[in-house]
Amino acid sequence: MQRIGVLTSGGDSPGMNAAVMSVAKSARYYGLSLIGIKRGYNGTLCKSHNIEDDMVELDLDTILDIADQPGTYLRTARCLDFMRPEMRVHAANNIHEMGIEGIVVIGGDGSYHGAMELCELGVPCVGIPGTIDNDLAYTEMTLGYDTAVNSCVDDIRAIRATSRSHDRPAVVEVMGRHCGDIALKAAAGTGAEICIVPEVRWSVQDVADHLSRLVAGGNPRATVVVAEGAWDAMQPFAWQHFLRDQGVNVHDDDVFTTNVLAKVLKYKCHVEARGTILGYTQRGRTPSAYDSWFAFEAGNLAVNLLRNGIGNQVIGIKDGRVYYMPISEALAQKRDFNLQLYNMINTL
Ligand code: F6P
Repeated sequence: MQRIGVLTSGGDSPGMNAAVMSVAKSARYYGLSLIGIKRGYNGTLCKSHNIEDDMVELDLDTILDIADQPGTYLRTARCLDFMRPEMRVHAANNIHEMGIEGIVVIGGDGSYHGAMELCELGVPCVGIPGTIDNDLAYTEMTLGYDTAVNSCVDDIRAIRATSRSHDRPAVVEVMGRHCGDIALKAAAGTGAEICIVPEVRWSVQDVADHLSRLVAGGNPRATVVVAEGAWDAMQPFAWQHFLRDQGVNVHDDDVFTTNVLAKVLKYKCHVEARGTILGYTQRGRTPSAYDSWFAFEAGNLAVNLLRNGIGNQVIGIKDGRVYYMPISEALAQKRDFNLQLYNMINTL
């Protein structure tokens, strides 16, 4: 083997650059040339006027300079074209023409599906789970999740300081797509009183009752941490009707958001609840020591697997150690939500 490629795909996550750095270091060590594929799978389609905008030889010195930076130097994207079989064949041909004999794919489950398809077309791929969401069952942690949780903990602590100063509750929304892990760990890490996640069905009335009990018990400054995917698990509630009854101006096409939940709680619990959506700050942080360590080991293992002709694998963490397994088996695993921690947060 003489040349491999590396790409980052899906939402960026802290640690992606560190993983690319590790791949670059290992490639250099084993005498392999390394091609950086730009903007996820888009780069494999070679649609730019200039090939350098799609695939570029990676220079280790440049990569060393950006290894501890958040974001992704290679850029990232979700590539809809790659869903089409004829485009994937085109991509595989381009990859073969470039002399790339294997690819390290750093991304989430969508990126893993793309990697599996490429393997079937004769391009060995190894995946590193780059996503803040922690939504891949086969690994204890995804790359970027630890940093995202730390970011949320910092921000929620700041929000709790101002909540405390004004004696008013806060509703804080965190990311995670359909997975409540960021919310769960961030809530536990800040002593937040209520946590709402997509994995557990919930009702606005239960949350309001809980908050009212806290207020009556002498805690008017509680924090409700809500995962962005939790709206799908909300029991039906005629909130537009309810808010109109309180004299609030609501349009028929308004949607239920964190700020709406804060407003509903305001009227139901008679408190000045305020909403905050933490958003992209969670993705754009410098990787934590944990994520940087994971990136380092994973990048090296990925290169070693490809060198040894072992493709169609993904790398994860089991019992605190970095390991690998076939992509299809990893994707078939069912996530195990930590209900015990959820109950602990919401009942203590
Ligand atoms: O998958 C990572 C993630 O940050 C999710 O938590 C979030 O739902 C999504 O990406 C946001 O994606 P976009 O960058 O397209 O807004």
